[in-house]
Amino acid sequence: MASPKAPIPTQMHTSRLILRAFEDADALPFHEAIEPALPSLRKWISSTTEQNTLQTQQARIRKAQSDWAAGTRYNYLVIERETGCIAGLVGVFNVNWTNRNCTFGYWLVPSCEGKGYAAEAVRQLEAVATGEMGLDRIAIMCDVRNERSARLARKLGYVYEGTLRKEYVGPQGDLTDTLVFSKVRGEEYH
Ligand SMILES: CC(C)(COP(=O)(O)OP(=O)(O)OC[C@H]1O[C@@H](n2cnc3c(N)ncnc32)[C@H](O)[C@@H]1OP(=O)(O)O)[C@@H](O)C(=O)NCCC(=O)NCCS
Repeated sequence: MASPKAPIPTQMHTSRLILRAFEDADALPFHEAIEPALPSLRKWISSTTEQNTLQTQQARIRKAQSDWAAGTRYNYLVIERETGCIAGLVGVFNVNWTNRNCTFGYWLVPSCEGKGYAAEAVRQLEAVATGEMGLDRIAIMCDVRNERSARLARKLGYVYEGTLRKEYVGPQGDLTDTLVFSKVRGEEYH
């Protein structure tokens, strides 16, 4: 298996945000922060339909830590620098070191939407994916009806590649169509 070009940072700063890997002590604040985000998360992300208990969030953090150690997924909590509050989560998912590609994921708590935080966090994630990780392709995938997510991808310069039909079993249990956007080395970045 190929590996990252350089150690992957566990903490990064942008002008308004801190992005950092989960710590065990995050379970309670994360459990509280995600609650108001669940109605919109449950429209699009099947893994968020489980009950939001402290135990489920402890298990989520353990899984994030073991995936980080295995080199398959790198989740970063997004923290507002001004308040120290959890603003959301971004992640480098489905890392394929052989083919040097990944998929980005992101969400914000509702009170942190509309401030440019997602764009700011995703730009920082790109710096790691293209730098330390040395990946040559980044994909963003979202439900065809998820206008906000698609708008973010387009705003950040991701190129629409196509629509995968009946690609994902959505939170309501029905097969849904998925938009695919990407940036590739040599075209959208160097
Ligand atoms: C998808 C999601 C992360 C997008 O969040 P967002 O708030 O629209 O994106 P940003 O944080 O980048 O903010 C962009 C908005 O902030 C505005 N903004 C305000 N101040 C800004 C600033 N200082 N800098 C940049 N943008 C700013 C922008 O104009 C833009 O507004 P617009 O959408 O009306 O054009 C969010 O809607 C979400 O969490 N959705 C639910 C989960 C989800 O669907 N995740 C994706 C699954 S594929």
